[in-house]
Amino acid sequence: MELGNWLRLPEGAGKNAVIGQAMDLLDGVLDYKDLMMGYACAIKEINTKFEVLDTEFEVRYRRNPISAIETRLKSQTSILEKMARLGIAPTRENIENNLNDIAGIRVICSYIDDIYLLADALTKQDDIRLIRRKDYISNPKPNGYRSLHLIVSVPIFFAESVKEVKAEVQIRTIAMDFWASLEHQIKYKKNVEHAERVIARLKECADEIAHVDETMQEIRKEMEQIQEEPTDAEMLYEKLKKIDINLI
Ligand code: GTP
Ligand code: MG
Repeated sequence: MELGNWLRLPEGAGKNAVIGQAMDLLDGVLDYKDLMMGYACAIKEINTKFEVLDTEFEVRYRRNPISAIETRLKSQTSILEKMARLGIAPTRENIENNLNDIAGIRVICSYIDDIYLLADALTKQDDIRLIRRKDYISNPKPNGYRSLHLIVSVPIFFAESVKEVKAEVQIRTIAMDFWASLEHQIKYKKNVEHAERVIARLKECADEIAHVDETMQEIRKEMEQIQEEPTDAEMLYEKLKKIDINLI
């Protein structure tokens, strides 16, 4: 069907110009969709890599280092806002070169050690290239924010081409995520004195939470160090339970 008929444009002058404009507009939208497809696929790839690691740990060691994975594709509004903030024209090339967080993967772990274990397991994979690493756990932000941030790139294999796509990976404990989620929702009041008090109290909470994380980690280490010889029956039962693990 001819596009003009589909658009129900009246016959006569201007029809071709309108169709031309609509074509250009759609080309722009489709090019944006194509750009976002790469980021959506990077999220899928990295998400699968973490799921594989979690499955491996479940089968081999009967524990899950990952409590949850959250993913998000940066919205069109946020992309345009950030490009405006950077003072750069929002062309496809500029977006690809200047934004590292269009694809976002947040991995929420049980223990602090699991954060580093997962980060190392990911970054040593042959196809993952580490671009930047920010350790806000050993160096928390002044407000108390803690997390390990990695900017990585991963090759995406399309039917006719391969494309390296960047993604931001945030790895944190349940406790760190609890703090960051609530802090993110707090809308500070204009009253400076009040805002300062809120910031100070949030920092206190962050430090208390960090202390709890460290204590939980110590408890787990102690439990692992206490070696109790299992009986033959217990060993058999452990093996049986491993067989029961659901793989899919
Ligand atoms: P932006 O993406 O522009 O924010 O910047 P950046 O390059 O300085 O990145 P950084 O690694 O410091 O932070 C990126 C992301 O981490 C943010 O988009 C948030 O998701 C998270 N984050 C960083 N700092 C904070 C914080 O103080 N509170 C909360 N709740 N989240 C934070
Ligand atoms: Mg960001």
